[in-house]
Amino acid sequence: MHGESNKKWGKGLQGAGEFIRVVNASKVYQTQDGGEVEAFTNFNLEIEEDEFLVLVGPSGCGKSTLLKMIVGLLPPTRGAVYFQGTEVLSPRTDFGMVFQEATLLPWRSVRDNVMLPIEILGKTDKDYRAGRLLTLVGLHGFESRMPYELSGGMQQRCAICRALIHDPRVLVMDEPFGALDAMTREEMGRELLRIWQQNRKTVVFVTHSIREAVWLADRVVVMTPRPAKIADIIEIEFERPRTEKMQFLPKFGEYVQSISDIIAGRAGGVLCKD
Ligand SMILES: Nc1ncnc2c1ncn2[C@@H]1O[C@H](COP(=O)(O)OP(=O)(O)OP(=O)(O)O)[C@@H](O)[C@H]1O
Ligand SMILES: [Mg+2]
Repeated sequence: MHGESNKKWGKGLQGAGEFIRVVNASKVYQTQDGGEVEAFTNFNLEIEEDEFLVLVGPSGCGKSTLLKMIVGLLPPTRGAVYFQGTEVLSPRTDFGMVFQEATLLPWRSVRDNVMLPIEILGKTDKDYRAGRLLTLVGLHGFESRMPYELSGGMQQRCAICRALIHDPRVLVMDEPFGALDAMTREEMGRELLRIWQQNRKTVVFVTHSIREAVWLADRVVVMTPRPAKIADIIEIEFERPRTEKMQFLPKFGEYVQSISDIIAGRAGGVLCKD
């Protein structure tokens, strides 16, 4: 399915983008000392339905800001975000978000944290998704524990379950595996790909790991330093499902190298381009 749909991105963004669109978005933060920080100006991005889009870019370039804007948590200073043609003006319940920090509620148990979106939506967990998700991420037996009793990686795994519990159409993930050890991180990446392929979902994912980006993505969006622009969009042409072996193919190394070059500004000064 995704091998097929990859083809339509082969010629840039033509025909893509009706699902989520960021249009001429600017975000200016007011700082404590009365100054301003411009995260990005006139930023445009089109995200296709069911695609796995990964954003990479230097620290502080505006990736988290962009994700919060996409889910409706942060209004753009100028411009707009559209979901299926409708402007996103408030947080959407059909989106799930994993933040850079786990952001669990400290007074609620692991299970009750995971159940939060279900409660907010006034639903019940009829098919015991909470239990199954917690088992999936290795938190079986920790359902009644409080967040302070968990390690940073365990808290983040709990937050991933919370983002998935209501089976959102769009999953927005801000460095979700940053606090995990390398082995758990790979395992979670595999699991995420499995969930994504089994349930129709659009994923917007931020990572600092270029290898992770190449392994997961249909397209990798490389951002410039702040105020962020798109330096380049790399289409990853590996078939789905992705396998471990792909990471050892020469083509995999070539993708990693070219994205590294773009980030480091070695690709023809692309980071300085308008
Ligand atoms: N609430 C805020 N008030 C003022 N400035 C902010 C605020 N949030 C972010 N910024 C600034 O906006 C810029 C973009 O921040 P953002 O968190 O989006 O970057 P990022 O790309 O996610 O970085 P990282 O990779 O380190 O997570 C930074 O310069 C940051 O200092
Ligand atoms: Mg961030």
